[in-house]
Amino acid sequence: MIDLRSDTATRPTEGMRAAIAAAVVADEQRREDPTVNELQERAAALLGQEAALFLPTATMANQIALKLHTRPGDVLVAERLAHVVIYEYGGPAAHAGLMVEAIEGQAGRFGVAEVEAVTVPSTKVADQRATLLALENTHNASGGRCWPLAELRAVTGAARERGLATHLDGARLLNAAIATGVAPAEIGGLFDTVTLCLSKGLGCPLGALLAGPAATMERAWREKHLFGGAMRQAGIVAAAGVYALDHHVERLAEDHARARRLAEGWHRAGLPVDLDQVETNFVQLDLGALGLEREHALALLREAGVGLSSTPHPGVARAVTHLDVSDEEIDRAVGLVPDALLSRAAA
Ligand SMILES: Cc1ncc(COP(=O)(O)O)c(C=O)c1O
Repeated sequence: MIDLRSDTATRPTEGMRAAIAAAVVADEQRREDPTVNELQERAAALLGQEAALFLPTATMANQIALKLHTRPGDVLVAERLAHVVIYEYGGPAAHAGLMVEAIEGQAGRFGVAEVEAVTVPSTKVADQRATLLALENTHNASGGRCWPLAELRAVTGAARERGLATHLDGARLLNAAIATGVAPAEIGGLFDTVTLCLSKGLGCPLGALLAGPAATMERAWREKHLFGGAMRQAGIVAAAGVYALDHHVERLAEDHARARRLAEGWHRAGLPVDLDQVETNFVQLDLGALGLEREHALALLREAGVGLSSTPHPGVARAVTHLDVSDEEIDRAVGLVPDALLSRAAA
């Protein structure tokens, strides 16, 4: 199957496996693992922050960040379809005791006016306050869309003026940086804390980083232990992260180019793809507009040898390009998907 369900589908390359095999390791919980320490230092610099913490997943990084910036009963402001709102199993409530004020965004984004509308200053009578703004870049549910730097500056500035802390779910921050031509440190440096995922476009088997000020990351160590995320010879996995930062960042542009080629091919063949929405490595395909039931259409595509997946938008599926998808496979998918769908759509 040409697996376009997610960029989490990658398997470690030969080079990455060699780096894993050669990793120098020690006890991470004692902060003695040199490979973990190296990855954390490199990630902090990359993300425009003082320090970083290696974690097993981006979900854990986000959830730790929520706890660092809030108290139970506080309000988290985020976009309605943000990963932290719809895909983390109620973590904001379960782990940090947060209420969520979800803003309806456009392509995962919203403006200063929306932030101001939901951050009414507290009164002595009512002190249920928004204390944290979490943004997502790229925004997964809207199809890997990017925030322009000026909008990020404006929205984080407005939040700060209102006394909110700011967190960036930058699981795919490097895709955004490559697509917009802005240094990741410039984007990450606008926030109090930043999550980066290693197991998506960067091609690692697992791993994520949470970056922020050194004092905040010291507090994050405690949360890492509490979540059961303090590991031992974790350099075995961190070595993949170091390798990915050396070899898999610039090449994200290739994934973006392949997504565009796929989108243009499908569009030419008559499939409902909005080319303007293709900014990084995602292509959204509106199966509902073809008159097809989504799960049925996804099953037809699987039979034809192409894996796509669902999105939170009714009737809309997505294709995601990544390290393990070649030009040749993109060319085949350009033909296979219209062949599998258009005859049924017309019927
Ligand atoms: C935007 C975003 N944030 C966080 C995550 C969570 O990543 P993980 O699977 O490493 O927990 C994902 C995973 O898809 C994501 O897309």
